[in-house]
Amino acid sequence: MRTHVPGRRQLRALAVAALPMLVLLVSPLAVAQGVPEGSQLFSQRCASCHTVGQGDRVGPDLMGVLTRREESWVTTFLKSPGAMIDGGDPVANELLKKFNGIRMPDQQLSDDERKGLFAFLRDCAEKGSCQPGASGPKLASDATPEEIEHGRQLFEGRVALANGGPPCIGCHNVRDIGVVGGGTLARDLTFSFARMGERKMTPALKELDFPLMRELYGQAPLTDAEQFELKAYLAQVSRDGTPPRKDRDFFYLGFVGLGVALGFIGIVLGGRGRAKD
Ligand code: HEC
Ligand code: HEC
Repeated sequence: MRTHVPGRRQLRALAVAALPMLVLLVSPLAVAQGVPEGSQLFSQRCASCHTVGQGDRVGPDLMGVLTRREESWVTTFLKSPGAMIDGGDPVANELLKKFNGIRMPDQQLSDDERKGLFAFLRDCAEKGSCQPGASGPKLASDATPEEIEHGRQLFEGRVALANGGPPCIGCHNVRDIGVVGGGTLARDLTFSFARMGERKMTPALKELDFPLMRELYGQAPLTDAEQFELKAYLAQVSRDGTPPRKDRDFFYLGFVGLGVALGFIGIVLGGRGRAKD
C-alpha cells in the first residue's frame, strides 16, 4: 500500500504544475460571478451620485478608479469616507473640495458586496463603458443607431405605436424635424432630454402624466421598447446641433399627426361624454 502514496516531492511538483492551470480556470469565473451582483448594487446604492464612464455627477466618474487608486485605499474609503477626510487623507480632501464639499455617505458593504462592486468596476474599465443594473431601465446613451432611428420613426408616426396611440409629432415639434414640421400644440421637445435627464425622462415616458397625454396614452400606453427608443431619440436630438430640416414631407407629417391626435382626443372626450350620460 505504501508504495502507492506519492512522496512529498512528487506532491509538491504536482501542485506547482497544477497551480497556474487552476488559477487560469478559476479566476475568470470568479470575476464573471461578481459582476451582475456588483452592477445591481451599483445601480441601487451608487448610481444616484456616480456614473461609470458617463462623467462626473454629484461624485466623480468611477471609470478606472481601481487603476488611479490603490485597491486598499478604495476599500478604506468606502468604509468611511468621512473618517478618511477628517483623518486628513490628502486625496480624500482634494476630492471633497472638487465636489463642492459634499461628503459621500459611509457605505455598509460586506466583503462579498465590495468584491462584487470591484469586479463590476474592473469589468467596466475593461470594456471601456458600462451599463449598471442590467435589469434596470436601459440608459439612452446605450442605444444603437438603429434604436434611435426607430425612435424617430415612432415619433413621426412613420411606424405605428404598438397599442395604437397617436404619434408624438401631432402635438410636439423637435428641431430635427423642422420649425414647421411637428405639432405646436405642446412644448418643443428638442431640449427636453437635456433638461430632464435620464432620471426624469425615463419615468416621464412610462407614466406620460401630462395634460392631454394622460388621456390618450392612458388607454394606449407605450411599450417598454417604445419608451426606450423614444427616449434614445429625444436624447440624440437634444445632443445634436444639426440645423432644422425643412423638406415638405415633414410639414405634411405634422398635419397628419395633428389630425390623428385630434381624432384621438375626439374619441376620448366623446367616450367620456357618453359615459357621463
Ligand atoms: C450621496 C452621494 C454619493 C453616494 C450615494 C455614493 N458616493 Fe461615492 N462619492 C461621492 C462624492 C461627493 C465623492 C467625492 C469625495 C467626497 O466629497 O466625499 C465620492 C467619491 C467616491 C470614490 C473615490 C473616487 C476617486 O476618484 O477616487 C469612490 C471609489 C466612491 N465614491 C465609490 C462609491 C460607491 C462604490 C458607492 C456605492 C456603494 C458610492 N460611492 C456612493 C458621493 C457619493
Ligand atoms: C395630444 C397631444 C400630445 C401628444 C400626441 C403627445 N404629447 Fe407629450 N405633451 C403634451 C402636453 C400638452 C404636454 C405638457 C407640456 C407642455 O406642452 O408644455 C406634454 C409633455 C410632454 C413631455 C414633457 C416635456 C417637458 O419638457 O417637460 C414629454 C417628454 C412628452 N410630452 C413626450 C411625448 C412623446 C414621446 C409623445 C409620443 C409618444 C407625446 N409626448 C405625444 C401633449 C401631447
